[in-house]
Order: sequence, then C-alpha cells, then structure tokens
Amino acid sequence: MIIQHNISLKPYNTFGIAATANAFCTVTSMDDLDYLFQHHHLNAPNTRILGGGSNILLTQNLDALVVQLSLKGISITREDADTVDIEVAAGERWDDVVQYAVSQNWGGVENLSLIPGSAGAAPVQNIGAYGVELKDVVVCVKGMVRSTGEMREISAKECAFAYRDSIFKHDLRDAYVITSVVMRLMKSPGADDLHCDYGALRQELAQLFPTTKPDKYTVSHVREAVCVIRRSKLPDPAIIGNAGSFFKNPEVSSEEFARIKSLYPDVPFFPAKANTVKIPAGWMIEQCAWKGKRLSLDSDAAVHDKQALVLVNHGAANGSEILALAEKIRASVEERFGVRLEMEVNTW
Ligand code: EPU
Repeated sequence: MIIQHNISLKPYNTFGIAATANAFCTVTSMDDLDYLFQHHHLNAPNTRILGGGSNILLTQNLDALVVQLSLKGISITREDADTVDIEVAAGERWDDVVQYAVSQNWGGVENLSLIPGSAGAAPVQNIGAYGVELKDVVVCVKGMVRSTGEMREISAKECAFAYRDSIFKHDLRDAYVITSVVMRLMKSPGADDLHCDYGALRQELAQLFPTTKPDKYTVSHVREAVCVIRRSKLPDPAIIGNAGSFFKNPEVSSEEFARIKSLYPDVPFFPAKANTVKIPAGWMIEQCAWKGKRLSLDSDAAVHDKQALVLVNHGAANGSEILALAEKIRASVEERFGVRLEMEVNTW
C-alpha cells in the first residue's frame, strides 16, 4: 500500500477545487483496508474517507490522510423468482451500477441514472431523483468499524434513511468505512412497477418514445428519459465543476407554506412528510435573481444558468469563494422567504 504525500485533490473532487492533502492513498482491496487499520490510520482523527468526491466542497488544504475507496465488484447474493439481491462494492461508480441493472432489465434504480459518485457514498446521503430514493432498494450496508476493524452489517432500518439523510451523517458519522451496499432489485418489472410520474418524466418518455405505449415502458426507457432530463439541466462535472444540488429543498410546515403561497401564488411545491411541504430551493434562488450569476465579476464561483440549485466552478474558484457565494444566496433567500437553506454538500 503506497501512501503519497502532498497530493492535489483536484482530480478527486467534481467541483474541481485545487486543494491538497498531506497524505493520500487508494484502497483497492480488503487487505489494503486491513493494512490501514493495523497501522492505526483508520481511527486517526485526521483520516478522511473519500468516495467519488461528488458531494464535497474542499475549503482548505487538508492536514489529513485522504483514503480513496476503490473497492470494485458486483455480485448476486440471493435471488428468487421475482427479485435479485446484488452486493455492490463501495468503489463502483454509481451510474455503472445503474447501467448494469438496466442491462439485466432489473428494476429499482433506473430513476437514479447518471447521479455522479460512488456506490459506497450513495447511502450516506440517501441519493434520490425523480421520485425514487436509494432507501427504496437497500437491504443493508456493510462496512468496517474504524475503531475496532470488525466488519458489520447495518440493516436498512438501522440506516435511518430520510430525505438526503441517514445515520451515517449523525450517530455513525465517521464511524465506518462503508465497503459495500446490498440492494434488492425487481427481476422483470412491468410498467406498473416503474416510477414515471415525477416532474417532467412522463412527458419526456412520450417525446422520446412516441410509438411505445406507456404500458410497455421498460427500465431502459426510464433510464434514457432520466438521462436526457438530467443532461439538459445539470452541468457535466467533467466540463464544469459542480457537486449537484448544493442545498437541500427545504421542508416547511403547512402554515409556513400558506404564508409563502399568499405572497407568491405560483410557488412550486412537493408534498413531504406529515404536515410539511417541500419547496424547490432552486426556484427560491432563481426568484432572488441568482441564476447564472457569479460571486463577483472576477470570480469563477457561480450559480448554474439552467438550474439555480447547482453552484459551479467555472475554472479557478476555490472553496472559500463557493462558500461565500452560498452564504450570499442563503441570506437573500432568508430575507425574501424567511426560510434558511441547509447545505446538501459536505465541506472539508
Ligand atoms: N426550479 C426553478 N428554477 C431553477 C431550478 C428549479 O424554478 O433554477 C423549480 C422548477 O419549478 C422545477 C422545480 O424547481 O419544476 C424542481 O426542479 P428539479 O426538478 O430540477 O429538481 P430540484 O428539486 O431542483 C431535486 C434533487 C435533485 C434531483 C431532482 C429530480 C434535491 C436537493 N435535489 O432537485 O438531486 O435530481 O430533484 O428528482 O433534492 C442532487 O441531490 O444532487 C440532485 C441533483
């Protein structure tokens, strides 16, 4: 196992921020992970576990050992007539997993197409899109306890999944190295098993496949439609640095929503958990005239011009500039709507 020093993390974060790590290594096997445990690296307070780097904002050079997880492999662990369980190693690219499932005509993750990042990071924030969340398919998450080196299974229930949230952001924060995720997929999903009714998905399906009847839609159709929608709104991190949605969509009480709706009758919304309503933060940010704007004329920190929920790095922005922009946006939204936005992206 090679530990390198003073490594630029620019290739390892989708925001493309040029911060460095004091020490850096890549884990490609369980032996590598055991080695790090045996040498007391896993429970050292300044060790950080990195997946695909698609949900972090680097705000400084890190005086830390950054461990990039590249464990690979997908295997079937159980199956019956209707369902199949697959165990996916943490370092698999999430979208490769979706592509594989769709190629087998297995249902459950097709709406989560094209989400950047690794499979191991997916449960931490319970990735979600177009009416589906990872929690809908997770059986359990496997990982190494950083303090003891033992391998454990955390059941879906124990994961305490919620909107862009799980126990790995709270009680089990930094407690585990997630090594794999077990998911239960449907073997031959019919059109009734697909989730086509979120936002513009059904419309996109009709446009892309005009000669296919909706009761004949398959997971491949859904994947393709989701990819088209995402590509039209969300910047490709390989071209413009970004970490997807920068903020969560705020969940407000029904009373709070009534107050906002009386002032802004066109406010879009989604029903959320009991007595709350989710308002798209992107809409609020656009209302505050931030869409497409830069922090300042000479800064590369900006708001994406097609989706105001996404902050972008046009090239040379550093993490502090992105954070400064985020704070300005938060202040505008709070002043106008009385709602405080919560960040979805983690800062390092
Ligand atoms: N909207 C605007 N202006 C904008 C952006 C959005 O008015 O600039 C309004 C529109 O009314 C639109 C609504 O907001 O209909 C919702 O927008 P969109 O469908 O693009 O989704 P979102 O709520 O902004 C969430 C997730 C995305 C996910 C999409 C689709 C969060 C924080 N984000 O975004 O997830 O892809 O729904 O399901 O929940 C991510 O987490 O990184 C991510 C990209």
